[in-house]
Amino acid sequence: MSVVKINVLTVPEEQREVLEKRFASRAGVVESQDGFEWFELLRPVEGTDQYLVYTRWRSEEDFRNWMSGPMQAAHRGGGGEGGERPRPAASDSTVWSFEVVQQAAPKTG
Ligand code: HEM
Repeated sequence: MSVVKINVLTVPEEQREVLEKRFASRAGVVESQDGFEWFELLRPVEGTDQYLVYTRWRSEEDFRNWMSGPMQAAHRGGGGEGGERPRPAASDSTVWSFEVVQQAAPKTG
């Protein structure tokens, strides 16, 4: 089964809009990565004030392959007018790792 990797971002209130704008103009390269299955940026509403960058991969190896190179490119672009990257909107980040044990999707038809 797949693995889920969640990057947990601590984002100061006044940086939320900046963060969301950066994602809105993200590189869009992860979609082409072998073994990539899903991405969601989750905005906190209740229970936490941390944003979650949810990613799902076919295998641990596929995630490692992305981490070992393409990920750097994905984090370099994203909305700048060129030149140096602006200061990160997040003040902290932690990666959570999970294995998918069960899953369900809506019935079709
Ligand atoms: C130092 C830690 C990290 C920070 C602060 C961070 C923050 C960000 C930000 C602000 C963006 C929007 C694009 C940009 O401005 O570059 C982005 C893109 C992204 N991040 Fe991270 N990130 C970090 C590490 C990670 C890790 C470990 C993962 C994997 C779980 C991840 C998954 C993604 C994905 C999938 C995108 C979209 C890339 C694309 O469109 O191709 N990030 N990240």
